[in-house]
Amino acid sequence: MAPVSRRNFLKSTGMATLPALVATPVFAAGTGYRQSPKASAVIKFYGDGEMFEPADYLNILQQVQTAAPIARDTYGSGGVVEALEKKFAELTGKEKAIYMPSGTMANQLAIAVLSGENTKVFVQDTSHFYRDEADASQSVFQKRLMPLAKDEPFFTAQQLQKAIETIPSEEVFKTGVGAVSIENPVRRANGKMVPVDELRTISAYCRTNNIKLHLDGARIFLASGWSGITVKEYASLFDTVYISLYKYFGAAGGAVLCGDKAVIDKMPHLIKVHGGSMYGNWANTAMALHRLEGFENRLQNTITRANEVFAALNKLPGITIKPLPGGTNIYSLELSAKTNGKKMRDTLNTAYNIRIGGLNEYNQGFLSVNETLLNQDSAYIINAFKKSME
Ligand SMILES: Cc1ncc(COP(=O)(O)O)c(C=O)c1O
Repeated sequence: MAPVSRRNFLKSTGMATLPALVATPVFAAGTGYRQSPKASAVIKFYGDGEMFEPADYLNILQQVQTAAPIARDTYGSGGVVEALEKKFAELTGKEKAIYMPSGTMANQLAIAVLSGENTKVFVQDTSHFYRDEADASQSVFQKRLMPLAKDEPFFTAQQLQKAIETIPSEEVFKTGVGAVSIENPVRRANGKMVPVDELRTISAYCRTNNIKLHLDGARIFLASGWSGITVKEYASLFDTVYISLYKYFGAAGGAVLCGDKAVIDKMPHLIKVHGGSMYGNWANTAMALHRLEGFENRLQNTITRANEVFAALNKLPGITIKPLPGGTNIYSLELSAKTNGKKMRDTLNTAYNIRIGGLNEYNQGFLSVNETLLNQDSAYIINAFKKSME
């Protein structure tokens, strides 16, 4: 079977226009949005961060190189890869961190090591781990994924405890619970978060029962920005944490996995065995390290700007922008029936370099907040919407 890109899949199924599903940058793809002008002038109300075009990527890396020569790695050892790993270990408060070529690999290897010979792994039904990793856990790592909370963003500690405690009465042959994986925030739930108190209760339960806990924190910096809970505090509740390098740190790909030294030291061999040991990794890690610098401040400024802009836009007739309950950077957008959404979208793009995702038949859509909001001041953005709705 030909490989299916997630973007093409969403487009071909029409899922891209369903508000209940994922707000991804799918609309950007066939619209010419990504071509011009320069990234520095554009505001994109989709995606979690800057996804640089090659020319911009190369320019940024050139600037980084000019400021201080980038130290290359060899098979992930030394140079800028090591510097990035140290930085993430510090940020998460974990003993060690390791760079990996993908988040999928980080998730899979973390669970494989944490669960050892035990086969049962509890996951959210809506998680990337359960739905979007091509059944790697089942087919490659011989784990049995046990999904909880069908179609919901998260499961509660009580649901987890009940599921674990009822196993002996429901199954004859005893197999151990290996680990629990939690995604936060949850991509398939439009960036909704698992409440931190729930995470604390789950963590305490797992620790008491000697069950290992993994965080798919691809976007944990977004959860931190919107909840005010530090990345370190989130990480302290888990044994291992994976963070993406390309969702909002600008890299072309890559991931870091952080945890105890004993766990992380097992990874280089496993990465090699699974074909992920790449000769040079400096281009991804140099970009991520550069963009990590000052990221949390920029994110706070972004949130402040979004609040300012949305408060002003909500005073205009015919437009309503609301945060999602328990959400992060994805907001719902609704236009009155009288507003021509397509025209507004086109004008925002052509006259103001502001790009928004598509709207459904009810004139509803999403606005994703990311660093590109800092490319113009609030007055510019507010005026652009006002004029585009006229
Ligand atoms: C929550 C979550 N976890 C894991 C991944 C996998 O990351 P990668 O694309 O680097 O394999 C993604 C990517 O979309 C994700 O959204």
